[in-house]
Amino acid sequence: MVGTRRCVGTGLFLRDNHGPGDIRSCEAEYLADTFAQKAALLASTVHPASRDSVTLTDTLNRPLRDLRISVTDRCNFRCVYCMPKEVFGPDYAFLGRDEILTFEEITRLAQVFVAHGVGKIRLTGGEPLVRRDLHELVARLSSLPGLDLALTTNGSLLAQQAPALKKAGLTRVNVSLDSLDESVFQTMNGVGFSVARVLQGIEAAIAAGLGPVKVNMVVKRGLNDASILSMAGHFREMGCTLRFIEYMDVGHTNHWRMQEVLPAAEIVRRINAQWPLEPLAPNYPGEVAERWRYKDGRGEIGLVASVTKAFCRDCSRTRLSAEGKLYTCLFATRGHDLRSLLRDGASDEVLSSAIAGIWHRRADRYSELRSDKTSDLPKVEMSHIGG
Ligand code: GTP
Ligand code: 5AD
Ligand code: SF4
Ligand code: SF4
Repeated sequence: MVGTRRCVGTGLFLRDNHGPGDIRSCEAEYLADTFAQKAALLASTVHPASRDSVTLTDTLNRPLRDLRISVTDRCNFRCVYCMPKEVFGPDYAFLGRDEILTFEEITRLAQVFVAHGVGKIRLTGGEPLVRRDLHELVARLSSLPGLDLALTTNGSLLAQQAPALKKAGLTRVNVSLDSLDESVFQTMNGVGFSVARVLQGIEAAIAAGLGPVKVNMVVKRGLNDASILSMAGHFREMGCTLRFIEYMDVGHTNHWRMQEVLPAAEIVRRINAQWPLEPLAPNYPGEVAERWRYKDGRGEIGLVASVTKAFCRDCSRTRLSAEGKLYTCLFATRGHDLRSLLRDGASDEVLSSAIAGIWHRRADRYSELRSDKTSDLPKVEMSHIGG
C-alpha cells in the first residue's frame, strides 16, 4: 500500500508506504526478550568470508556510514522535549559506572565499525561533556584513520573543554540552543541555564578551531517558535549554520503531540519572508538536514524535517548506547547487546560478524511509517542514544 495518511489531530498528511504488518513487527520486536536477542545475534552473524568490509548494506540497500556513540545517559539539562524533569527527577535510575562502556570498549567497537566502512563518528549523550575526561576518548578515536570525529553538545561545558577536545583531535561540534530569549530558553532547558553561557561555549569552540559550528534549534510550536527569526538573524551575523529541528516523537516520556510540531515548510516560509532563501543540494548523501541558502550570500540554514518529510531512504546511521546496545534507528524499541559479547570475550572477528548481521537485517524506516499507532510505542529515550 502506498499513499498518505492524516496524522491524528492535525491537517498534515504523512507519507505512508507500508502495510499493516510493519506496525505489528515494531510491536513484536519490542516483545523479544534479551536472551532471545543474544542468541539471535550470535546465530545470525555473517561468515567473515562472505563479508564485504567496505559496502555493508541493509535490506533497503543502505550502506553503514555513520556511527553515533552515546557516552552517557546523564545530562545537566532537563529539556522539556527530551528529559522532562517530572520523569528524570532525583530518583531516576541512570546507568551505573559498571554498566556503561569503558573508553577501551568504545574504541574497540569503533575500530570494528570503521573497518565496516564507517567514516563519521559523532559523540553524543545525554550530554557527552558530563562524562569525565572525554578528551581521552577523543584522543583514542582520533587515531582511527580518515574519520570525521564530531560531537553534539548542549554547549554548557564547552568553554572549559573546547581547547582540550581540539588538541585531542576532535574535528567539529554541533551545539543545541533553542532560543536567544532567556526566559524561553531557561524554561525549555528545565534547569534555568543561561543563553549567554551557551553562546560563550559556541565562541570558545570557534576560537579553538572546532568549526564550522552548527547550531541545532528544536522548534516546539507555542513554546519557542517566536524565537525563529531572532535566532536566524543572530547566527546569520555570526556565520554559523542554524538548523531547525522539527519536534520529534522520540522516546515515550515527552508526551509528543503532532499539534506541537511546526512543519519545516512553515519555518522556511517565515524566514524567507524576512531574508529570501533558495534550496541547496545536500553536502553528502543521506544528510539529515535539508539545506537552504540566503540569497544575499549570508550563509545557510538547515531543516531537519523528520516528521513532515522523512529522510529514511538514505539513512546510513546507527547508534551505540552508553551501555553498549546497538540501535539501528532513532525510534527503535530495542537494541542489540554488544556489551555482553565484548565482556564475554568475543574476538574482533565475532564482533565484526555480529555487526554485519545486524546491519544486513536492518529494515528501519520509522519516520516513513509514523502514525498515531507508532508514536505510542515504547521507544528508546533520546537521552540513551543521543539523537
Ligand atoms: P552533521 O554531521 O553536522 O550533518 O550532523 P547531524 O545532523 O548528523 O547530527 P546532529 O547531532 O547535529 O543532529 C541534528 C538533529 O538531527 C538532531 O535532532 C538529531 O536527533 C536529528 N537526527 C540525526 N540523525 C537522525 C536520524 O537518523 N533520524 C532522525 N529522525 N533524526 C535524526
Ligand atoms: N525532537 C527533536 N529534537 C530533539 N532533540 C532532543 N530531543 C528532541 C526531540 N524530541 C535534539 C537536541 C539536540 C539533538 C541531539 O537532538 O536538541 O540538538
Ligand atoms: Fe540534555 Fe540534549 Fe536532552 Fe537537552 S536535548 S536534556 S541537553 S540530552
Ligand atoms: Fe534513520 Fe530511523 Fe531516522 Fe528513518 S527514522 S532516518 S531509519 S534513524
